[in-house]
Amino acid sequence: MPKIFHIITYGCQMNQYDSSALREYLEIRGHKWTDDVQSADFIVVNTCAVREHAQNRALGRIKGLVSAKRKNPALEIGIMGCVAQELGEKLFEKIPELDFVIGTDQIPVIAQIADGTIARGIFVQTRQNFYGVESNAHINSGRVSSFVTIMRGCDNFCSYCIVPYVRGRERSLPPDRIIAEIENAVANGVREITLLGQNVNSYDYGGLDFPELLEMVANIDNLARIRFVTNHPKDFSEKLLDIVEKYPDKIPPAFHLPIQSGSDNVLHAMNRKYTSEQYFDIVDSIYKKFPDAAISTDIITGFPGESEADFDATISAMKRVRFSGTFSFRYSVRQGTAASKLLDNVPNDVKIERLNRVISTGLEIAEEYSQNLIGTVQNVLVEGKSRKNPGKLRATAPSGRTVLIDENSANIGDIVTVKITDAKIWILWGEYP
Ligand code: SAH
Ligand code: SF4
Ligand code: F3S
Repeated sequence: MPKIFHIITYGCQMNQYDSSALREYLEIRGHKWTDDVQSADFIVVNTCAVREHAQNRALGRIKGLVSAKRKNPALEIGIMGCVAQELGEKLFEKIPELDFVIGTDQIPVIAQIADGTIARGIFVQTRQNFYGVESNAHINSGRVSSFVTIMRGCDNFCSYCIVPYVRGRERSLPPDRIIAEIENAVANGVREITLLGQNVNSYDYGGLDFPELLEMVANIDNLARIRFVTNHPKDFSEKLLDIVEKYPDKIPPAFHLPIQSGSDNVLHAMNRKYTSEQYFDIVDSIYKKFPDAAISTDIITGFPGESEADFDATISAMKRVRFSGTFSFRYSVRQGTAASKLLDNVPNDVKIERLNRVISTGLEIAEEYSQNLIGTVQNVLVEGKSRKNPGKLRATAPSGRTVLIDENSANIGDIVTVKITDAKIWILWGEYP
């Protein structure tokens, strides 16, 4: 019996990718997607464990969903993703009504459960040769921009981070599989691809490195634009900058380069393997080649032992680099990580107060970044109609900023050249020059 299914997704772009790949994988087996979770008889929740708050949100949602099983006992509800991998069978203790728990290397099992060919249960074995479900997540998505995962897992063991424990060891996907997937996406109308990995700079498939892969992708016909996340400063290379420079129309100089902290003591305790000086050297080499580069970042406040002076170094680093965007997080202890053995000694109100200072500094410099674009001419990719601004199309600038332009002047998927006339923090207005 085909299932009517829905997938709820929490977490990062990797999870979004896995969910859309799973959706298509189930659809080609005859199961029917529904946008409306109430009308589904098979619900999968894809979860994130990176911070306690993220984990609790997902578990709270599942608890809400399982109460519907009292009225409809045929309803099947399962959990996949990072919390499933982390907690495994403990999830059945927390939520006995769950039907299945699927670890990050076991996604195809969900299709077997939906098909009814194996019994429900718990499947969390790790598989180093698991590269993601064989499917094409881009068919009929109707989207201009799409993700392609190029590597899974992480070997970096930043001391605060649970990802290496829940996503397993790092593995790079074969380039022919990546290229075939992107070609297929392009044939289905996708114009922009974002290559995904926890540390794309350490991509290595039999000696083929990330800049070489990027160049192969840049040579795919009809692909308008390529982005990539995340860059780890310890593996960032000049060779990558050379490839970005070689394909100016295809690869915008936009780099998500998480700094995490501006203090060398904290960076060391975080096991990030670079100093603030090394980070600034990378930033200088980026701005030297691309004076208008967009450099965005992640910052954690209140890591164990972070002093006021350490924190000030983070704020100074933000001002020095002039990030186009900052994602900031309050430190959250994750069981099993190296940092969980350190004394979590920054009081919660201090963590929050520092977080607020990072947020306000981040907004100030992001606004300045946008204001500086007024008067410039930008090639923007038209993504779709703006929902909030009738009569406007929503496009993206090379930096990643949203640009609103007049509706009647371009088609979805076009790259058009506009002059920026006005700017708010995250939104620019463009007109034809
Ligand atoms: N691989 C990426 C990050 C993935 S997780 C990288 O290395 O940059 C996304 C962000 O979540 C991290 O950059 C970090 O800022 C934040 N994060 C990870 N673990 C955290 C924790 N325990 N508490 C607070 N923030 C955390
Ligand atoms: Fe976590 Fe560090 Fe790996 Fe990023 S590089 S996923 S922060 S361990
Ligand atoms: Fe969260 Fe897992 Fe991504 S822990 S950030 S969903 S890799």
